[in-house]
Amino acid sequence: MLSPLSRLVGAYLICAAVCDAKLCRGPHDLKSGYDYVVVGGGASGLVVANRLTEDPEINVLIIELGDLDDGSPGTLVPGLQTPQKYWHTYTSVPQKGLNNRTSQLYTGEVVGGGTVVNGMFFNRGSALDYDAWDELGNPGWGWKDLLPYFKKSETYSPATPEIQAQYPASPDLQPHGTQGPVGSSYAPFSFDQIENWFNGWASLGVLVNPQSNAGLAVGAIHSSLSLAQPNVSRSSASDAYFKGDPSRRANFHLLTGHRAVKVMFEDMTAVGVEYAARNTSQTSHVKASREVIVAAGTARSPQLLQLSGIGPRQLLTGLGIPLLKELPGVGFNFQDQPSYYIPVNLTKWSGPIPDWVDPTADAYHEEYAKQQLAAYYSERQGAYTIPYQAGSDVAFLPFKNLTKQYSKYIKQAKTVDISGLSPPGTDPSLISGHKAQVDILLKHYASEDTASLESTFNGSPLVIIVALKPLSRGSILINSTDPAADPQVDFGTFTHPTDLDVLVASLKKIRDLLISPAMQELGAVEISPGPSVQSDADIVVALKNGTLSSWQHPVGTLAMMPEELGGVLDPQLRVHGIDGLRVVDASMMPLIPASHTSSTVYAVAEKAADLITASQSKVRHSA
Ligand SMILES: Cc1cc2nc3c(=O)[nH]c(=O)nc-3n(C[C@H](O)[C@H](O)[C@H](O)COP(=O)(O)OP(=O)(O)OC[C@H]3O[C@@H](n4cnc5c(N)ncnc54)[C@H](O)[C@@H]3O)c2cc1C
Ligand SMILES: *[C@@H]1O[C@H](CO)[C@@H](O)[C@H](O)[C@H]1NC(C)=O
Ligand SMILES: *[C@@H]1O[C@H](CO)[C@@H](O)[C@H](O)[C@H]1NC(C)=O
Ligand SMILES: *[C@@H]1O[C@H](CO)[C@@H](O)[C@H](O)[C@H]1NC(C)=O
Ligand SMILES: *[C@@H]1O[C@H](CO)[C@@H](O)[C@H](O)[C@H]1NC(C)=O
Ligand SMILES: *[C@@H]1O[C@H](CO)[C@@H](O)[C@H](O)[C@H]1NC(C)=O
Ligand SMILES: *[C@@H]1O[C@H](CO)[C@@H](O)[C@H](O)[C@H]1NC(C)=O
Ligand SMILES: *[C@@H]1O[C@H](CO)[C@@H](O)[C@H](O)[C@H]1NC(C)=O
Repeated sequence: MLSPLSRLVGAYLICAAVCDAKLCRGPHDLKSGYDYVVVGGGASGLVVANRLTEDPEINVLIIELGDLDDGSPGTLVPGLQTPQKYWHTYTSVPQKGLNNRTSQLYTGEVVGGGTVVNGMFFNRGSALDYDAWDELGNPGWGWKDLLPYFKKSETYSPATPEIQAQYPASPDLQPHGTQGPVGSSYAPFSFDQIENWFNGWASLGVLVNPQSNAGLAVGAIHSSLSLAQPNVSRSSASDAYFKGDPSRRANFHLLTGHRAVKVMFEDMTAVGVEYAARNTSQTSHVKASREVIVAAGTARSPQLLQLSGIGPRQLLTGLGIPLLKELPGVGFNFQDQPSYYIPVNLTKWSGPIPDWVDPTADAYHEEYAKQQLAAYYSERQGAYTIPYQAGSDVAFLPFKNLTKQYSKYIKQAKTVDISGLSPPGTDPSLISGHKAQVDILLKHYASEDTASLESTFNGSPLVIIVALKPLSRGSILINSTDPAADPQVDFGTFTHPTDLDVLVASLKKIRDLLISPAMQELGAVEISPGPSVQSDADIVVALKNGTLSSWQHPVGTLAMMPEELGGVLDPQLRVHGIDGLRVVDASMMPLIPASHTSSTVYAVAEKAADLITASQSKVRHSA
């Protein structure tokens, strides 16, 4: 153990190197209690802690497993890969729908969580996507309710006139915020072949949509990114909500390198958190006089609740964990968006492609990469202003616009027995919830106002298709009482057969695009699955062989829904049946929006902070 003096010196050195943060290195730096203890300093945890500590009377501690990022170029320059030390990779159980292949789920294990490592795509779903949350028993969670919080979280800079001349990007500020912490703006550069992509979609009658953030998130779009101006650097939650002024608040403590292992209770009230250094099993306790706020992300938040005695009875008793509150939905309702990569050959394109600046790509072009990096540092221009291996240009298409046979597929989907998709013994409430969701999703499939397909093209010889609104459900469950062990991730990919129908229709749509005159100017040729794969049955074989379970948008494992629908949280984000315990991260989403998730996570957490402040929860004295 360090002496108090050397601790002080150590803290000073660390802070001098990276920030002025009130960073805590261990139990001795903490107060014995706080008003709120937040578990997880990722996207949602930082938002809530930041907003609560705007009141100097309120003391907040975040316990975060990772460290503060080092501010190195990989964490700031969009086009550089983020250092591997900030990633954690989960490997799923074998997926029956994928010929027993496994899939990976990545997370950021660092202050800022996923926003330090993510692809920086910064968009919102359609109004219908959030109205569906409201419909599932959550008054106050529709699009109109969330829009003020989307605005509150961002500072939006419209595209430059040059970008507006080249791409659909409305200067309309109306749905945007201009005072919030997260930078939302456009990369000042694009690869020329992207124009062929837009022209190709337009020739197929697809809407080219300059304003996809105002409730109608469909069409071919040039998206804003979580990119701070004028520096043109990654705007992570850490940069937006912690580094700088908030980190100097005396009432805002951040303990890094430590893992919450259990929530402590008195009767049915959360009163504190048990935690341990990342690399030890020796635990300490800290009290929360008002609330414990869970923000450990979709993969880890259910683990924390399960270890704390909240979850499915059989799972917990089987592991010898005393049951505090039976909630069958804890860890279920897991949703992500399955993705399939279609390699293409751009046989007539010899100009720059994004792979030229990626040292891991076959086409890496050292000379070009050097020039572009120099252009980034000198003028904030060029290929490194675009996020690593990602891009800004995608098409979001409603199922109805994918195939003329949409109503046939929807009819077939209605005949699928949902109870037959879950293992025997599944709690009936989970099946009711799944059915209620499928009813809503099939209405979405028949609508032109929300998407089922996302397809991306960044100028490299690759087109990706993603099923945005899967009907399949998975789970994330512990199989051990060791809090450091990974939980078992089961995506449940393609357990509902309609998800394959959606991707089959999507692949065919991409084939229409590739043969459009605009994409033929690039000489686009599909390499895989390739021209020999034509029948629906053959496409299904290729999809099961090649699909990845995740688009890195895991949500839903602690869903905000009534208990009779298998839900875990009430519309105040409080855990059903428990006092003083809320969940504010992506695990709360009952249904995945047809979108990337970070901007929704920010909006939800901004709203959560308001709910917490407004609630009249009595200050408890748990001494
Ligand atoms: C590779 C990748 C690419 C992505 N691309 C995009 C994109 O382009 N656009 C987009 O909008 N979204 C993207 N996302 C998703 C987006 O980043 C997430 O939706 C968002 O970060 C989720 O926020 P969260 O607060 O729920 O969880 P996180 O941000 O994951 O935060 C959870 C935090 O809790 C910590 N933690 C976990 N367990 C414990 C514990 N027991 N005790 C203490 N701390 C704990 C973790 O270290 C982490 O910091 C991507 C994500 C990844 C991983
Ligand atoms: C997948 O694994 C299950 C269980 O081990 C087995 O019954 C099934 O045949 C396997 N499927 C394939 C396609 O290998
Ligand atoms: C879907 O099709 C309808 C009818 O053709 C059209 O009006 C609409 O713009 C299309 N949507 C998109 C996103 O292309
Ligand atoms: C701006 O970006 C550069 C990376 O090129 C980084 O070194 C610098 O710290 C950034 N400044 C801010 C204020 O984020
Ligand atoms: C555990 O982590 C602490 C803090 O990061 C570090 O000082 C210590 O050396 C580590 N111990 C071991 C055994 O790795
Ligand atoms: C791509 O096209 C080029 C030019 O026609 C050709 O030389 C190359 O072999 C093709 N690559 C693949 C993988 O088909
Ligand atoms: C528990 O799950 C983890 C993560 O999937 C896995 O690595 C481990 O082998 C499993 N352990 C048991 C006992 O099944
Ligand atoms: C299955 O995937 C492997 C590896 O990606 C590939 O080599 C093979 O051709 C694929 N087979 C089919 C039938 O798609």
